Amino acid sequence: MTAGQPPGPPAVPEEQGVGVSVAVPSVDAAPHSQPVAWRHRHLLDVDVLSADETELVMRTTDAMREVLGRPIAKVPALRGTNVTILFYEASTRTRVSFEVAAKNLSADVVNIATATSSVVKGESFLDTLRTIEALGAGMLVLRHAHSGAPYLAAEHFGGSVLNGGDGWHAHPTQAILDLYTMRRRLPGGTVAGRKVVILGDALHSRVARSNIWSLTAAGADLWVCGPATLVRGLEAWAGSGVGPASRRFTVTSDVNAALRDADVVMALRLQQERMSGGLLPSLREYSARFGLTRERLALARPGALVMHPGPINEGVEIAPDVAEGIQSVITEQVANGVAVRMALLYLLAGVRGPR
Ligand code: MLT
Repeated sequence: MTAGQPPGPPAVPEEQGVGVSVAVPSVDAAPHSQPVAWRHRHLLDVDVLSADETELVMRTTDAMREVLGRPIAKVPALRGTNVTILFYEASTRTRVSFEVAAKNLSADVVNIATATSSVVKGESFLDTLRTIEALGAGMLVLRHAHSGAPYLAAEHFGGSVLNGGDGWHAHPTQAILDLYTMRRRLPGGTVAGRKVVILGDALHSRVARSNIWSLTAAGADLWVCGPATLVRGLEAWAGSGVGPASRRFTVTSDVNAALRDADVVMALRLQQERMSGGLLPSLREYSARFGLTRERLALARPGALVMHPGPINEGVEIAPDVAEGIQSVITEQVANGVAVRMALLYLLAGVRGPR
């Protein structure tokens, strides 16, 4: 799938970080040998990233894309490093792309599916962490149904922790790959001044929460739209301002107002596994009122980008012809996820040092 014509002219300000000069590492070399301005041992959410650090991630991702374009898409950067992937929730994209990313950096990868581990025999979370560290894990990619679990892991684990999604709270690598994909696709390479709409179940979405931080920080005119029951609480963020007062952030249930002249529309899955019930009359009604159809997409700017973090429930939050249409960059998001995760593993490994 390829995107169609890019949306019309940008309306405004300069994105934070664009034009900033950051020293991009030479990714063929070991990360700890590189003089790079990166101070984080863990990546738990995007709210700790400065504009310069976000820019460094973007540029390091460009370098990783160059690696991915080589006949042998592999560098020795993480040779000897054990990257353990511990997922307490189902995943295809995030888990596999972390695995591919770590292998492309020549790391030793261990995958733990909790359904077949000692977790089912009652082993505690902290015991599991101690065990995998004793088995040599230097970097831990963690997904957990409980918000905050990666923060607890970071307090106890001796290496680096990367949050692969925690409860409703955060999904930093998804937000970073979303920003990267938008910047590559939008004219001028910036989201600043662009109208970006997150459409759907924002209430239960860790993807939405991390994207709210990174997109408003990057100067986007961000709209979050969904049924009142699925955007509640986010109005308070809009009212009190998320971070600096200059952030542009609107919460609405008016889908026409949200989509009108949008440059980017990101549909979200209805996360029914996190719903306690009674939030929606029916899937059919949700789809009729908020589903991203071709007719609704026509309200956006010509060539507006269509995005979705996946997994997609086609025909519910997005129509199949829109998900697979010319404006969709959904598969590009998945592909960029590998380069973004390579960049983050690389940068974090530089702080952790050789093991
Ligand atoms: C997530 O893990 O949050 C996914 O990427 C989005 C979803 O599950 O709908």
